[in-house]
Amino acid sequence: MAAYRVPPIPGSEITPKSVYLRRRELMGLAAGGLALTASPSLAAPLTSKPSAYTVDEKLTPKDSVTSYNNFYEFGLDKDSPKALSGDFKPLPWTIKVDGLVSKPQTLDVEAMLKDYTIEERVYRMRCVEAWSMVIPWNGIPLAAVIDKVEPLGSAKYVAFETVVRPEEMPGQNGYFQSLEWPYIEGLRMDEARHPLTLLAVGLYGETLPNQNGAPIRLVVPWKYGFKGIKSIVRISFVEEQPKNTWALTAPSEYGFYANVNPEVDHPRWSQASERRIGEGGFFSEARRPTLPFNGYADQVASLYAGMDLKVNF
Ligand code: MTE
Repeated sequence: MAAYRVPPIPGSEITPKSVYLRRRELMGLAAGGLALTASPSLAAPLTSKPSAYTVDEKLTPKDSVTSYNNFYEFGLDKDSPKALSGDFKPLPWTIKVDGLVSKPQTLDVEAMLKDYTIEERVYRMRCVEAWSMVIPWNGIPLAAVIDKVEPLGSAKYVAFETVVRPEEMPGQNGYFQSLEWPYIEGLRMDEARHPLTLLAVGLYGETLPNQNGAPIRLVVPWKYGFKGIKSIVRISFVEEQPKNTWALTAPSEYGFYANVNPEVDHPRWSQASERRIGEGGFFSEARRPTLPFNGYADQVASLYAGMDLKVNF
């Protein structure tokens, strides 16, 4: 894999030099007359049915959900994905579903929007960088898609892959590459089949903006946000535990499981508390305690019975 050249997922207090340089580059582009407008992805309304899998908490404003993002394919700064994803074409879109299944398929996302019942689910989302949001997602339970392809008994894990399109994704293009592409992630089969695990196709009742992972991304609310791989083009059923981008990039800092855990600190910062984006100013935000499994312990703790969560972080 490519050499690891920047601090991965920089702590919110740090502005790495690369980001600072990128910002200057953007300012130069703007000064040169290139319009740096918000991503023009065409948001289409979605019909969804409400779901019991919903938390009763104040929603993070849509503007924050769609302008404070991690999507390194579009740059490292929180506002880069919105500013630089305008050329990305989320449709048409297909996902290759292959590996240890009886019925491998190529899924067409526009057909999926018609074929599946879209649910609205309000989930907490906790980034490994110690910020959080409450997001109304629209999506399809991953289990419903898994059932259609009939995994074989030998399929123990599910591996996911993001699209590679350097011509539309400036972070995959040029001299500086922050990660090795494609961005990859994985889940254990029982995690993938868990009813909370969602393939999100929208938020706030509309199709996903490019910066949030259009047209389809994973949401696993009890895990750190980096498990929520965006703009998925491949889902493979495999026997061995798949690699995942951040564990490959910095294995001492990020693991495969990535369950939200206030008792296991990141080597460079505490995970005991978090700041909720959009509440108060950046410096005045009160920190709230982080909950085990991000508040979903009742639903998911049993999946990890007997496991040492400090070892399997
Ligand atoms: N998926 C891809 N392909 N590339 C990324 O850089 N960042 C991850 C995750 N999925 C990322 C990704 C991280 S670190 C987080 S916290 C969430 O996306 C952020 O999702 P959001 O921008 O919709 O809040």
